[in-house]
Amino acid sequence: MEKSIKVLSLITVALSLFVFGCGQKEKTVKYTIGFSQCNSAEPWREAMNKEILSEAAKFPELKVMISDGQQDNSKQVADVENFIVQEVDLLIISPNEAQPLTNIVEKAFDKGIPVIVLDRKVLTDKYTVFIGADNIKIGKAAGEYAAKLLKGKGKVVEIWGLKGSTPAIERHEGFIQGISDHPGIKIIYEQDGAWLRRKGREIMENALQRFDRIDLVYGHNDPMAIGAYLAAKNANRIDKTFFIGIDGLPGAEGGAQAVLNGELSATFLYPTGGKKAIEIANDILSGRKVPKTITLETVTIDKLNASKYK
Ligand code: FRU
Repeated sequence: MEKSIKVLSLITVALSLFVFGCGQKEKTVKYTIGFSQCNSAEPWREAMNKEILSEAAKFPELKVMISDGQQDNSKQVADVENFIVQEVDLLIISPNEAQPLTNIVEKAFDKGIPVIVLDRKVLTDKYTVFIGADNIKIGKAAGEYAAKLLKGKGKVVEIWGLKGSTPAIERHEGFIQGISDHPGIKIIYEQDGAWLRRKGREIMENALQRFDRIDLVYGHNDPMAIGAYLAAKNANRIDKTFFIGIDGLPGAEGGAQAVLNGELSATFLYPTGGKKAIEIANDILSGRKVPKTITLETVTIDKLNASKYK
Protein backbone atom coordinates (compact mmCIF):
# COMPACT_ATOMS: atom_id res chain seq x y z
CA MET A 1 0.00 0.00 0.00
CA GLU A 2 2.71 2.40 1.09
CA LYS A 3 4.72 1.44 -1.97
CA SER A 4 1.87 2.18 -4.36
CA ILE A 5 1.28 5.57 -2.71
CA LYS A 6 4.95 6.33 -3.27
CA VAL A 7 4.74 5.27 -6.92
CA LEU A 8 1.57 7.28 -7.36
CA SER A 9 3.09 10.43 -5.90
CA LEU A 10 6.18 9.96 -8.06
CA ILE A 11 3.98 9.73 -11.13
CA THR A 12 2.10 12.85 -10.02
CA VAL A 13 5.35 14.77 -9.58
CA ALA A 14 6.61 13.60 -12.96
CA LEU A 15 3.32 14.46 -14.63
CA SER A 16 3.10 17.91 -13.13
CA LEU A 17 6.72 18.56 -14.08
CA PHE A 18 5.89 17.48 -17.62
CA VAL A 19 2.79 19.69 -17.78
CA PHE A 20 4.63 22.59 -16.16
CA GLY A 21 7.54 22.04 -18.55
CA CYS A 22 5.29 22.12 -21.60
CA GLY A 23 3.47 25.18 -20.33
CA GLN A 24 6.80 26.84 -19.62
CA LYS A 25 8.07 26.05 -23.07
CA GLU A 26 5.01 27.47 -24.69
CA LYS A 27 5.19 30.54 -22.51
CA THR A 28 8.84 31.13 -23.28
CA VAL A 29 9.72 30.66 -26.97
CA LYS A 30 6.75 31.75 -29.00
CA TYR A 31 8.39 33.22 -32.08
CA THR A 32 11.48 32.26 -34.03
CA ILE A 33 13.41 34.98 -35.84
CA GLY A 34 15.93 34.13 -38.54
CA PHE A 35 18.65 36.73 -38.90
CA SER A 36 20.58 36.44 -42.14
CA GLN A 37 23.82 38.35 -41.59
CA CYS A 38 25.92 39.01 -44.71
CA ASN A 39 29.09 38.15 -42.81
CA SER A 40 30.04 37.85 -39.18
CA ALA A 41 33.77 38.38 -39.54
CA GLU A 42 34.12 42.16 -39.27
CA PRO A 43 34.00 43.99 -35.89
CA TRP A 44 31.02 46.10 -36.96
CA ARG A 45 29.07 42.95 -37.87
CA GLU A 46 30.09 41.28 -34.60
CA ALA A 47 28.77 44.33 -32.76
CA MET A 48 25.48 44.08 -34.67
CA ASN A 49 25.11 40.37 -33.80
CA LYS A 50 25.84 41.09 -30.14
CA GLU A 51 23.26 43.88 -30.03
CA ILE A 52 20.65 41.64 -31.62
CA LEU A 53 21.28 38.81 -29.17
CA SER A 54 21.42 40.97 -26.07
CA GLU A 55 18.23 42.83 -27.00
CA ALA A 56 16.47 39.54 -27.85
CA ALA A 57 17.45 38.17 -24.43
CA LYS A 58 15.08 40.75 -22.94
CA PHE A 59 12.15 39.06 -24.69
CA PRO A 60 11.86 35.45 -23.47
CA GLU A 61 9.27 34.67 -26.13
CA LEU A 62 11.73 35.43 -28.97
CA LYS A 63 14.37 33.05 -30.23
CA VAL A 64 16.93 34.34 -32.73
CA MET A 65 18.97 32.18 -35.08
CA ILE A 66 21.87 33.89 -36.87
CA SER A 67 23.31 32.65 -40.15
CA ASP A 68 26.61 33.91 -41.58
CA GLY A 69 26.59 34.63 -45.31
CA GLN A 70 30.41 34.88 -45.32
CA GLN A 71 30.29 37.75 -47.84
CA ASP A 72 28.99 35.33 -50.43
CA ASN A 73 25.68 36.16 -52.13
CA SER A 74 24.77 32.55 -52.97
CA LYS A 75 25.57 31.37 -49.44
CA GLN A 76 23.29 34.12 -48.10
CA VAL A 77 20.48 33.21 -50.52
CA ALA A 78 20.74 29.59 -49.29
CA ASP A 79 20.66 30.81 -45.66
CA VAL A 80 17.39 32.69 -46.27
CA GLU A 81 15.97 29.72 -48.21
CA ASN A 82 16.73 27.62 -45.15
CA PHE A 83 14.90 30.05 -42.85
CA ILE A 84 11.89 29.93 -45.18
CA VAL A 85 11.89 26.12 -45.07
CA GLN A 86 12.11 26.27 -41.27
CA GLU A 87 9.06 28.56 -41.31
CA VAL A 88 10.56 31.28 -39.16
CA ASP A 89 8.03 33.82 -37.85
CA LEU A 90 10.10 36.79 -38.98
CA LEU A 91 13.19 37.39 -41.10
CA ILE A 92 15.84 40.04 -40.50
CA ILE A 93 18.34 40.43 -43.30
CA SER A 94 21.42 42.57 -43.80
CA PRO A 95 22.08 41.75 -47.46
CA ASN A 96 25.61 41.40 -48.82
CA GLU A 97 24.74 42.96 -52.19
CA ALA A 98 21.39 44.40 -53.25
CA GLN A 99 20.57 42.76 -56.58
CA PRO A 100 21.51 39.12 -55.81
CA LEU A 101 19.48 39.10 -52.56
CA THR A 102 16.36 40.79 -53.94
CA ASN A 103 14.50 37.70 -55.21
CA ILE A 104 14.87 35.72 -52.03
CA VAL A 105 13.63 38.65 -49.91
CA GLU A 106 10.59 38.88 -52.19
CA LYS A 107 10.04 35.13 -51.86
CA ALA A 108 10.05 35.29 -48.05
CA PHE A 109 7.73 38.30 -48.05
CA ASP A 110 5.33 36.67 -50.54
CA LYS A 111 5.15 33.65 -48.23
CA GLY A 112 3.80 35.95 -45.54
CA ILE A 113 6.99 36.20 -43.48
CA PRO A 114 7.49 39.75 -42.16
CA VAL A 115 10.89 41.01 -43.33
CA ILE A 116 13.13 43.61 -41.67
CA VAL A 117 15.87 44.83 -44.00
CA LEU A 118 18.77 46.12 -41.95
CA ASP A 119 21.57 48.55 -42.96
CA ARG A 120 21.97 47.55 -46.65
CA LYS A 121 19.00 47.72 -49.00
CA VAL A 122 17.45 45.41 -51.61
CA LEU A 123 15.93 46.44 -54.94
CA THR A 124 12.28 45.92 -54.10
CA ASP A 125 9.68 47.31 -51.75
CA LYS A 126 8.47 43.82 -50.82
CA TYR A 127 9.64 43.99 -47.23
CA THR A 128 8.03 45.18 -44.01
CA VAL A 129 10.55 47.72 -42.64
CA PHE A 130 13.92 49.10 -43.58
CA ILE A 131 16.13 50.18 -40.66
CA GLY A 132 19.38 52.04 -41.23
CA ALA A 133 21.13 55.39 -41.22
CA ASP A 134 20.93 57.71 -44.23
CA ASN A 135 24.08 56.96 -46.21
CA ILE A 136 23.62 59.84 -48.63
CA LYS A 137 23.50 62.21 -45.68
CA ILE A 138 26.60 60.57 -44.17
CA GLY A 139 28.49 60.75 -47.48
CA LYS A 140 27.51 64.40 -47.85
CA ALA A 141 28.73 65.20 -44.34
CA ALA A 142 32.01 63.43 -45.19
CA GLY A 143 32.34 65.47 -48.40
CA GLU A 144 31.71 68.75 -46.59
CA TYR A 145 34.18 67.78 -43.88
CA ALA A 146 36.77 66.91 -46.54
CA ALA A 147 36.20 70.26 -48.26
CA LYS A 148 36.84 72.02 -44.96
CA LEU A 149 40.03 70.06 -44.27
CA LEU A 150 41.28 70.72 -47.80
CA LYS A 151 40.21 74.36 -47.80
CA GLY A 152 38.38 73.73 -51.05
CA LYS A 153 41.26 72.23 -53.04
CA GLY A 154 43.03 68.88 -53.20
CA LYS A 155 43.51 65.38 -54.54
CA VAL A 156 41.35 62.65 -53.10
CA VAL A 157 41.59 58.85 -53.11
CA GLU A 158 38.21 57.22 -52.56
CA ILE A 159 38.08 53.65 -51.28
CA TRP A 160 34.66 52.23 -52.00
CA GLY A 161 32.72 49.61 -50.08
CA LEU A 162 31.43 46.65 -52.09
CA LYS A 163 30.06 48.30 -55.24
CA GLY A 164 26.91 46.16 -55.34
CA SER A 165 25.92 47.17 -51.81
CA THR A 166 23.74 50.24 -51.37
CA PRO A 167 25.74 52.00 -48.61
CA ALA A 168 28.75 52.19 -50.96
CA ILE A 169 26.70 53.68 -53.80
CA GLU A 170 25.01 56.16 -51.45
CA ARG A 171 28.19 57.14 -49.58
CA HIS A 172 29.78 57.93 -52.94
CA GLU A 173 26.79 59.92 -54.16
CA GLY A 174 26.60 61.88 -50.92
CA PHE A 175 30.32 62.66 -50.99
CA ILE A 176 30.04 64.03 -54.53
CA GLN A 177 27.21 66.29 -53.32
CA GLY A 178 29.30 67.38 -50.34
CA ILE A 179 32.24 68.53 -52.48
CA SER A 180 30.13 69.85 -55.37
CA ASP A 181 30.75 73.51 -54.51
CA HIS A 182 34.51 72.96 -54.71
CA PRO A 183 35.70 72.22 -58.25
CA GLY A 184 39.27 72.34 -56.90
CA ILE A 185 38.70 68.99 -55.18
CA LYS A 186 39.40 66.09 -57.52
CA ILE A 187 38.94 62.37 -56.96
CA ILE A 188 42.12 61.09 -58.61
CA TYR A 189 41.76 57.38 -57.82
CA GLU A 190 38.82 55.23 -56.74
CA GLN A 191 38.71 51.48 -56.18
CA ASP A 192 36.38 48.89 -54.64
CA GLY A 193 37.82 47.82 -51.29
CA ALA A 194 34.89 45.45 -50.53
CA TRP A 195 34.63 46.94 -47.00
CA LEU A 196 37.86 45.16 -46.03
CA ARG A 197 40.80 46.69 -44.17
CA ARG A 198 43.27 44.46 -46.05
CA LYS A 199 41.95 45.76 -49.38
CA GLY A 200 42.02 49.37 -48.17
CA ARG A 201 45.69 48.90 -47.46
CA GLU A 202 46.40 47.32 -50.87
CA ILE A 203 44.52 50.05 -52.74
CA MET A 204 46.48 52.73 -50.90
CA GLU A 205 49.79 50.98 -51.66
CA ASN A 206 48.92 51.20 -55.36
CA ALA A 207 47.75 54.81 -55.06
CA LEU A 208 50.99 55.82 -53.31
CA GLN A 209 53.02 54.35 -56.15
CA ARG A 210 50.99 56.17 -58.80
CA PHE A 211 50.61 59.60 -57.19
CA ASP A 212 53.23 61.82 -55.58
CA ARG A 213 50.58 63.80 -53.83
CA ILE A 214 47.44 62.57 -52.10
CA ASP A 215 45.76 65.15 -49.89
CA LEU A 216 42.91 63.10 -48.50
CA VAL A 217 41.71 59.52 -48.38
CA TYR A 218 37.98 58.91 -48.08
CA GLY A 219 37.26 55.36 -46.95
CA HIS A 220 33.63 54.21 -47.09
CA ASN A 221 34.28 52.56 -43.72
CA ASP A 222 36.84 52.92 -40.93
CA PRO A 223 38.61 49.58 -41.46
CA MET A 224 39.49 50.55 -45.07
CA ALA A 225 40.49 54.11 -44.05
CA ILE A 226 42.71 52.70 -41.29
CA GLY A 227 44.18 50.15 -43.73
CA ALA A 228 45.03 53.05 -46.06
CA TYR A 229 46.57 55.00 -43.17
CA LEU A 230 48.79 52.01 -42.33
CA ALA A 231 49.97 51.78 -45.96
CA ALA A 232 50.83 55.49 -45.96
CA LYS A 233 52.59 55.16 -42.61
CA ASN A 234 54.65 52.31 -43.94
CA ALA A 235 55.66 54.44 -46.92
CA ASN A 236 56.46 57.41 -44.67
CA ARG A 237 53.74 59.47 -46.28
CA ILE A 238 51.20 60.34 -43.60
CA ASP A 239 52.32 63.92 -43.03
CA LYS A 240 50.43 65.68 -45.79
CA THR A 241 47.41 63.40 -46.03
CA PHE A 242 44.09 63.42 -44.17
CA PHE A 243 42.15 60.19 -43.64
CA ILE A 244 38.43 60.02 -43.03
CA GLY A 245 36.18 57.00 -42.55
CA ILE A 246 32.68 55.95 -41.53
CA ASP A 247 31.29 53.72 -38.71
CA GLY A 248 32.68 55.22 -35.49
CA LEU A 249 32.52 51.86 -33.75
CA PRO A 250 33.51 52.03 -30.09
CA GLY A 251 36.38 49.88 -28.79
CA ALA A 252 40.13 49.66 -29.20
CA GLU A 253 39.95 48.79 -32.92
CA GLY A 254 37.11 51.23 -33.64
CA GLY A 255 36.98 54.50 -35.55
CA ALA A 256 36.57 56.80 -32.54
CA GLN A 257 39.79 55.43 -31.07
CA ALA A 258 41.50 55.87 -34.46
CA VAL A 259 40.49 59.54 -34.32
CA LEU A 260 41.95 59.83 -30.82
CA ASN A 261 45.14 58.13 -32.07
CA GLY A 262 45.42 60.76 -34.79
CA GLU A 263 45.06 58.17 -37.57
CA LEU A 264 41.70 59.46 -38.80
CA SER A 265 40.73 63.14 -38.90
CA ALA A 266 37.07 62.21 -38.63
CA THR A 267 34.59 59.39 -38.81
CA PHE A 268 30.80 59.41 -39.04
CA LEU A 269 28.75 57.28 -36.69
CA TYR A 270 26.91 54.47 -38.48
CA PRO A 271 24.82 52.65 -35.88
CA THR A 272 24.34 48.92 -36.46
CA GLY A 273 20.63 49.10 -35.69
CA GLY A 274 20.68 45.67 -34.01
CA LYS A 275 18.76 46.79 -30.94
CA LYS A 276 16.18 48.66 -32.99
CA ALA A 277 15.66 45.63 -35.25
CA ILE A 278 14.65 43.46 -32.30
CA GLU A 279 12.37 46.14 -30.83
CA ILE A 280 10.63 46.44 -34.20
CA ALA A 281 10.51 42.65 -34.66
CA ASN A 282 8.74 42.44 -31.33
CA ASP A 283 6.28 45.16 -32.40
CA ILE A 284 5.50 43.34 -35.63
CA LEU A 285 5.06 39.98 -33.90
CA SER A 286 2.80 41.61 -31.31
CA GLY A 287 0.60 42.94 -34.09
CA ARG A 288 1.60 46.59 -33.77
CA LYS A 289 1.84 48.80 -36.84
CA VAL A 290 5.35 49.90 -37.82
CA PRO A 291 6.62 52.53 -40.27
CA LYS A 292 8.11 51.37 -43.59
CA THR A 293 11.42 53.17 -42.95
CA ILE A 294 13.26 53.84 -39.72
CA THR A 295 16.21 56.18 -40.12
CA LEU A 296 18.97 55.99 -37.55
CA GLU A 297 20.91 59.09 -36.63
CA THR A 298 24.55 59.81 -37.42
CA VAL A 299 27.12 62.04 -35.68
CA THR A 300 30.35 63.56 -36.93
CA ILE A 301 33.14 62.28 -34.71
CA ASP A 302 36.40 64.18 -34.70
CA LYS A 303 38.96 65.14 -32.10
CA LEU A 304 36.48 67.47 -30.42
CA ASN A 305 34.12 64.68 -29.31
CA ALA A 306 35.84 61.32 -30.01
CA SER A 307 36.45 60.50 -26.35
CA LYS A 308 32.66 60.39 -25.89
CA TYR A 309 32.36 57.62 -28.50
CA LYS A 310 35.37 55.45 -27.79
C1 FRU B 1 30.50 45.99 -42.20
C2 FRU B 1 30.32 47.20 -42.98
C3 FRU B 1 30.48 48.47 -42.17
C4 FRU B 1 29.77 49.40 -43.04
C5 FRU B 1 28.55 48.58 -43.39
C6 FRU B 1 27.87 48.99 -44.61
O1 FRU B 1 30.26 44.86 -43.02
O2 FRU B 1 31.23 47.18 -44.02
O3 FRU B 1 31.81 48.80 -41.94
O4 FRU B 1 29.49 50.61 -42.50
O5 FRU B 1 29.03 47.28 -43.51
O6 FRU B 1 26.85 48.12 -44.93
